Amino acid sequence: MSEFEISSLLQAIYQKYGYDFRQYSEAHIRRRIMNRMSMSGLKDVSQIQSMVLKDETIASQLLQDLSITVTEMFRDSGFYKSLRDYVIPILKTYPFIKIWHAGCATGEEAYSMAIIMQEEGLYDRTTIYATDFNQQALNKAKEGIFSNKMIKEYTINYQLSGGKESLSSYYTSNYGNVIMNQSLKKNIVWANHNLVTDSVFAEVHLILCRNVLIYFEKDLQNKVQKLFYNSLINGGVLCLGSKEGLRFTDFYEEYKDVDKKQKIFKKKYQLANALEG
Ligand SMILES: C[S@@+](CC[C@H](N)C(=O)[O-])C[C@H]1O[C@@H](n2cnc3c(N)ncnc32)[C@H](O)[C@@H]1O
Repeated sequence: MSEFEISSLLQAIYQKYGYDFRQYSEAHIRRRIMNRMSMSGLKDVSQIQSMVLKDETIASQLLQDLSITVTEMFRDSGFYKSLRDYVIPILKTYPFIKIWHAGCATGEEAYSMAIIMQEEGLYDRTTIYATDFNQQALNKAKEGIFSNKMIKEYTINYQLSGGKESLSSYYTSNYGNVIMNQSLKKNIVWANHNLVTDSVFAEVHLILCRNVLIYFEKDLQNKVQKLFYNSLINGGVLCLGSKEGLRFTDFYEEYKDVDKKQKIFKKKYQLANALEG
């Protein structure tokens, strides 16, 4: 599969459906296309290109393939421990708190945050904006129904992250599933937002964008970092995934480390206006 074939397919998807994968990491895109071709019994990219353009079901399958929605509750417990220790005290100083989960997938991360904010007595003054460009994932997130197969692992994560209650007090079990409590959902706003093509989301105190930028090429990472910088208040906090960072972006100097290992950064105070655009 040549680079030209891949870029022609991505261009066609963008023109027809408005989803822009042109600056995603080539290795990631190549793997996912190969996978879809073998699952659909297709032999070359031109075949998949013409099917994607003709058949919205195939297009939607490919979009699901390209948007990896793997997630967990309290994923990387050390990160959540650090969030409790260093970020919560910062958030406590604000009369109201806006948190943005960018690339929230099926919502486990946003429910984890809602639990922490409840335990810290902050949830009533918090709004959590949980966004993704994958509407199917967002619909599942909104329902808040997860398979109980994962609950054992989530419970361990929760305990290691400094959980103060029993995780089971936040859901009810129902025929192999767990249903997250309504009280956690009440301040979560689920919204479709594309980090590549949509603009600044809101003036927020905390942004979590974990395990999303890893799929983006450097220029696109930079573009998205600009969006985050302009969405955060002065002194706001940015959290990235364990394999992500700011070092190779234009914004490295604009943040202080809160916890270098856990990829938690605090936006420096700006005397002049925020960066243009
Ligand atoms: C691996 S999941 C990460 C989920 C969660 N943040 C975590 O760390 O567990 C990556 C998510 O990013 C979303 N995503 C990828 N590109 C995106 C874009 N351009 N705009 C918004 N979301 C995007 C995918 O749909 C997917 O749900």
